[in-house]
Amino acid sequence: MEITRIRSGHGDPAAIEALIPELLAFDTVINRASGLGEDFDPIPEDVRHALTGRSEYRTTLTWIGRNHGDIVARGTADLRLTSNTDAAELWCAVRPDLRRRGLGAALLERMESDLAADGRTALSTYCEIPESARTADLRGAHLAAETGAGTLPVSLPGVSFLSAHGYGLAQIERCSVAPTATAAELDLGAKADDYVIETWRGPVPEQRLEHIALCKRRLSTDVPGAAKFGGEETWDGERVRALDAEKEARGESMATALALLDGEPAGYTQVGNSADRPTVGWQGGALVLNEHRGHRLGARLKIANHRSIAENTAVDRVYTWNAVENSWMLAINDQAGFATWA
Ligand SMILES: CC(C)(COP(=O)(O)OP(=O)(O)OC[C@H]1O[C@@H](n2cnc3c(N)ncnc32)[C@H](O)[C@@H]1OP(=O)(O)O)[C@@H](O)C(=O)NCCC(=O)NCCS
Repeated sequence: MEITRIRSGHGDPAAIEALIPELLAFDTVINRASGLGEDFDPIPEDVRHALTGRSEYRTTLTWIGRNHGDIVARGTADLRLTSNTDAAELWCAVRPDLRRRGLGAALLERMESDLAADGRTALSTYCEIPESARTADLRGAHLAAETGAGTLPVSLPGVSFLSAHGYGLAQIERCSVAPTATAAELDLGAKADDYVIETWRGPVPEQRLEHIALCKRRLSTDVPGAAKFGGEETWDGERVRALDAEKEARGESMATALALLDGEPAGYTQVGNSADRPTVGWQGGALVLNEHRGHRLGARLKIANHRSIAENTAVDRVYTWNAVENSWMLAINDQAGFATWA
């Protein structure tokens, strides 16, 4: 297998354009084999962005493995450039008909050595496992997550592959999906407090840039297990604006709900949606700041956002990811009609 590497925004533009349909086809084959469903098929603009996007805050590395000219394996690594510069989140996949022949190991080892040469030694990765695959063999050997919450069957290819390469199982997340209408119709009753919830769709308004930046900075250390995956991220209004511009360029829009108390941020939640897949929404960050917990703001924010999405967009279902030890968030999601998907 011949392996080449592309740093986003640094390849030959004509060669990159020619590569996009090939990578899309490869990623679609990988996704269809995963059992996660067509909602998870690659989005053309995301593939393009991973190869061409340039940002001062993050970059993506792509490795492509070919045999006789055909793509047989591919890897990606997401790198932060202004914080957590020793870390990388990576992922790799091998064409289903060519698995168990050492291609995955060859690619992963090349990725790890390239990343180490770049000072990136704190590596994390993930595998996405449909609920039906996770529960197919409940009696077989399982690996427990280091959080103490949840286990995965060791017989799953992604799990055994990563274990064989020295990766520990840090955390399990539940991916769940809900119809937007269910959450939008929930009513928590009138609240006798002074919190105000604002919603909008599209870029963050000027007067809210610093508020969202504060929420995102706090989110980087406040979610369960955050310490394990890197320290606090630096966020300011400028970075929020740059992220919005990047999303707009690749046809993704965000629906946001922000809770305020006396004009100061108390929490937020965001759902992203690609123009390419208008009926599907993806939960982004969601946080209630520590000092504002205990007012059911998590549920109130989510309901307000789903209501705004149901009324103003074509999105009819939203996928979300939560650490399985995050029982508060999972309880809110259960109430909002979310059911386990992966
Ligand atoms: C995980 C994946 C990349 C492995 O690719 P691969 O080319 O089959 O892996 P390799 O042949 O190099 O396997 C290396 C080792 O991983 C383990 N392994 C891989 N697949 C396995 C399976 N189905 N059952 C048990 N062990 C397995 C074995 O220890 C194997 O060594 P061995 O064959 O000498 O026993 C591939 O299954 C895949 O693309 N899965 C979907 C994407 C994914 O889950 N990626 C994981 C996150 S990075």
